[in-house]
Amino acid sequence: MDTTNPLAVPPASTALVTGATSGIGFSVGRALAGLGWTVLVHGRSAERAGEAAARMGDVPGGLIPVDADLETRSGVRRLIDQVHRAAPDGLGVLVNNAGAAFDRRGLTADGVERTVAVNHLAAAGLAHGLESILKPIGGQRHSLPRLIMMTSYLEARARPIEDWALPGEWTQMRAYASSKLANLAYTYALAERWRDRIEVYAVDPGAVRTGFQRSAGGPLHLIGLLGAPLMTSPERPARTVVATATRPAHSSGSYIRAVRAVDTGRPKLSSARSRDRAYQRDVYDATQRFLSG
Ligand SMILES: NC(=O)c1ccc[n+]([C@@H]2O[C@H](COP(=O)([O-])OP(=O)(O)OC[C@H]3O[C@@H](n4cnc5c(N)ncnc54)[C@H](OP(=O)(O)O)[C@@H]3O)[C@@H](O)[C@H]2O)c1
Repeated sequence: MDTTNPLAVPPASTALVTGATSGIGFSVGRALAGLGWTVLVHGRSAERAGEAAARMGDVPGGLIPVDADLETRSGVRRLIDQVHRAAPDGLGVLVNNAGAAFDRRGLTADGVERTVAVNHLAAAGLAHGLESILKPIGGQRHSLPRLIMMTSYLEARARPIEDWALPGEWTQMRAYASSKLANLAYTYALAERWRDRIEVYAVDPGAVRTGFQRSAGGPLHLIGLLGAPLMTSPERPARTVVATATRPAHSSGSYIRAVRAVDTGRPKLSSARSRDRAYQRDVYDATQRFLSG
């Protein structure tokens, strides 16, 4: 890619977008395919993924539905296997977008609290399991492959997780915020470890009008209903994700806040806890232990 010419068209590549059946993920998948990328459209089931790819319509790029429920390690492994088969030449970009919140505490088959399982452990598992097939975009050495993690400004309200099962006092907001804090710390740890090989970004979409709050139920549903008029459409943060995927304007390891005026978003300082190196190491080590279990 000609990095000196801002009008040069970035080369198309292949991207996996998780949670591409609705909201921000759907907009990201459709926009990347509109630019000629091959997009692996992930959904919880084959039906949902196929239906989302069909809704993306007639786009110049390719659309390949892939499916897995991301609550468990076996689901994550299932998706990794499919991606290896569907993208034999590798992936240029992994967008870890799938996310959830729940109105009551529940454990997965792996014995992990569900919010933490989907928002952090699945995203980490995919990053870990797909690292080997993240390949330079356009085959050029200066266009490194990219990992984009969808984060949330709510990470700043979180308490650090001490046990993946989140025993003790549980609230929807606490589980959600803590899962995003752990994931952000892990993202920074990956940026450090993958330096000069794979670019790593965290994108905070802001408050977005999607089905997220409704599916979450509980207090988040109410916040979604009351706050809807103030929220942005999913297309806006999708533009920031697409800009980061195709022509990143910020350095690897950045926390990028989607903003109204600038598609590339603005880099921002996340919480002090998320930037604490010792905490990042602890989260990274505990996550790797879980993934290898
Ligand atoms: N909306 C906001 O205000 C906001 C703010 C900050 C951060 N975020 C983050 O942005 C990301 C996208 O959210 P969104 O607002 O676009 O919400 P959304 O429309 O509800 O999309 C979430 C996606 O994740 C998928 N997903 C959830 N649990 C899954 C599971 N166990 N297995 C497989 N797929 C699963 C959903 O699939 P199904 O359709 O099958 O459920 C859906 O495709 C999330 O990571 C969220 O935490 C959102």
